[in-house]
Amino acid sequence: MLIELDQIERQAIASLNEVNSQESLEQWRITHLGRSSSLMQVFDALGQVPKEDRPAIGRRANQVKQALEAGLMERTESIRQERIQCSLLTERLDVTLPGRPVPRGRLHPSTQIHRRIAVILEEMGFQPYLSRDVETDDVNFQLLNFPPHHPAREMQDSFYVTGGFPGGDIQADNPILLRTHTSPGQIHAMREYAASNPQNPPSIRIYLPGMCYRYEQVTARSEFQFTQVEGLAVGKHITFSDLKGTLDDFARRMYGQSVRTRFRAAHFPFTEPSAEMDIECFVCNGAGCPVCKRSGWLEVLGCGMVHPVVLMNGGYDPQLYTGFAFGMGPERMAMLRHRIEDIRYFWSNDLRFLEQF
Ligand code: DAH
Repeated sequence: MLIELDQIERQAIASLNEVNSQESLEQWRITHLGRSSSLMQVFDALGQVPKEDRPAIGRRANQVKQALEAGLMERTESIRQERIQCSLLTERLDVTLPGRPVPRGRLHPSTQIHRRIAVILEEMGFQPYLSRDVETDDVNFQLLNFPPHHPAREMQDSFYVTGGFPGGDIQADNPILLRTHTSPGQIHAMREYAASNPQNPPSIRIYLPGMCYRYEQVTARSEFQFTQVEGLAVGKHITFSDLKGTLDDFARRMYGQSVRTRFRAAHFPFTEPSAEMDIECFVCNGAGCPVCKRSGWLEVLGCGMVHPVVLMNGGYDPQLYTGFAFGMGPERMAMLRHRIEDIRYFWSNDLRFLEQF
């Protein structure tokens, strides 16, 4: 048995020297140190060995086991070192090479101006109100006081949609369309606020940002989609002076403390009276230039006192409540600010354009 143990040791060590990978090392361990290895069979057979021979054979078997285990550890370590050497040679990292540039992302110019408008309106106490992009004709037009054949509808050619809202039926006289402006959000907001306390509806101060859609010939000046930011204030003692003061303040925060504004009479079905606000041209300071078409003024938004019919449609009694609203076009504002000549740049995703902001 002692001779057999010598042989076991010699063979195992010899084959260990041929092992050169992690996987064959494991295979070697199973063969030479595993449960059914020759060495373990010697341990199993110790019971049948005559008593006087047992200590010597047992000692020798333990020696062999320790020798094989030590060999295994040593070989494991040397294989690991070989691997490291090999990867150092083949995967060399040259830290002196220039790094790869990481392109810096940026916000879309439309997002930038939206954020700026949002910050200003929030500082002034307006809360954001998000309204749906898909509307019914009554909310987009009729409840905003555009009767079915009102000529003002023609300024907002629409994308009508076939099909209905889930669970609802479509009616011929109330088709579904993509909203042509953010103003229908006024109706949703007023109804929601009014529903919270129908006897005594709370006052409202919100702004409504979002995408609008018009079935329009796409040109340098008009796109079939664009964003708007709408403002709405409703309360018990709101006057036209509040409208003017608020929008003057907005213009100063947006365009600088010294900016001059002017209000011109205009018409919108959902406001009475209605106005448009201009700011003094910041390119020529009012002297007249191509950007302001030599007028010295730039139109920035439409506004007015909320029409009594609209207040009523929103659940507010026009005998008790008044309000003002305004609507602006952020892309138009960005075009003026950055002298962008073509509105189609905004949604054509051309990096050469987008990277300039
Ligand atoms: N909804 C109008 C448009 O798209 C813009 C507008 C004008 C909104 C006057 C208003 C407003 O709230 O008072 O042309």
